[in-house]
Amino acid sequence: MGLTKNNVFNKIAVYGIGLGIVAFQVAGMVTGKDDLIKKDFALAENQYSRMLTVATDLTKFPRTTAPNGTLKYTGVGDWTGGFFPGGLWYLYEYTKDVKWKQAAEKWTEALAKGQYNTVHHDVGFVMYCSYGNGYRLTKNPEYKKVLIQSAESLSSRFDPKVGSIKSWNSKASWDGKNTWHYPVIIDNMMNLELLFFASKVSGNPKYRNIAISHAKNAMRDHVRPDYSSYHVVNYDPETGKVLNRQTCQGFSDNSTWARGQAWGIYGFTMVYRETKDKRFLETARKMADFYLNNKNLPADKVPYWDFNVNQPGYKPDWKYDASKFPVVPRDASAAAVVSSALFEMSTYLGNGGKKYKQAAEKILQSLSSPDYLAKPGSNNNFILEHSVGSIPHGTEIDVPLIYADYYFLEALLRYQKEG
Ligand code: GLY
Repeated sequence: MGLTKNNVFNKIAVYGIGLGIVAFQVAGMVTGKDDLIKKDFALAENQYSRMLTVATDLTKFPRTTAPNGTLKYTGVGDWTGGFFPGGLWYLYEYTKDVKWKQAAEKWTEALAKGQYNTVHHDVGFVMYCSYGNGYRLTKNPEYKKVLIQSAESLSSRFDPKVGSIKSWNSKASWDGKNTWHYPVIIDNMMNLELLFFASKVSGNPKYRNIAISHAKNAMRDHVRPDYSSYHVVNYDPETGKVLNRQTCQGFSDNSTWARGQAWGIYGFTMVYRETKDKRFLETARKMADFYLNNKNLPADKVPYWDFNVNQPGYKPDWKYDASKFPVVPRDASAAAVVSSALFEMSTYLGNGGKKYKQAAEKILQSLSSPDYLAKPGSNNNFILEHSVGSIPHGTEIDVPLIYADYYFLEALLRYQKEG
């Protein structure tokens, strides 16, 4: 057909309407995303403004809600001290409001002596979430020094005979079945980010080499053939051989503890970012597949605290009473960690990354819903409800946890930054 005045007009009209629809859809999507991020940060500002009026002792870092309903704190020696300052840095990053910077600096610097902590591996969590974010946003040279000293302390727990960082000192296993001579837990993957940072800013490759050695061992020893994960691997300190493997913070030794899986997905993604070794990305992706394709993952993608609770073939070796849990508790903290990790992982996978980004968005939508997001002034001023600390210890069951908030805010910022 030739071009008549009429069909030119029709084509322009059709293209016009088409473009209009596309523009409307794009605008709708962007608006939805922006609204969600804005709404969540408004709530976070509201909650943490209140938190700052309650938490005024700089030796006590907000962590959770105690069984009697009050705000529970921890000290500088615990693994969770860095998350509150880290959350304050994320509020500053989003709002650019100097009041959050001042609060973040105050709470970060309250952790200064953590840089010398050599008694457990969590110096990475504590110092990198606080000082690490502080350095990223301010380039304060004092923070860099603290972070290098922190990496030095963490590195003191590395023994080349084993090739991993010892998470905890030797002790009886939680279930009393073993002695842990050289225990390494999957969570330790998260502490490696501090080491990569320290090598970059100091020029000393030692820290990075330790991180890579640790990550290779974790890939070999913590990750099962189906890409689920063990919690604890106990090594012989003389030979570096694996003595036994357990999942003490999960349901049973052969089960998959949801937050342990989340630490693995996040940790291996981060190690891929720092090394560009595809084996780490592949491990992170397959661990994410285990999580996302699991028949026991609820539709909102916020996991039960362990993927195998009450299933045949999984037998707890701690005092588990199913009647106390008519509803299996969810762990919003694991979901927040996974959402943040998937936003990053999706950027390394080209077109294959789309489904991981969609899953990350879905998790954020779930956590942003009234099912998990606290109402202003409730929840002891934490942002998210419904996390689990350690059910085998009978502690922190269906409560807010400061690290759930931290990774939720991080995921929102990653969502905001992605194209
Ligand atoms: N790092 C301890 C936990 O995830 O509970």
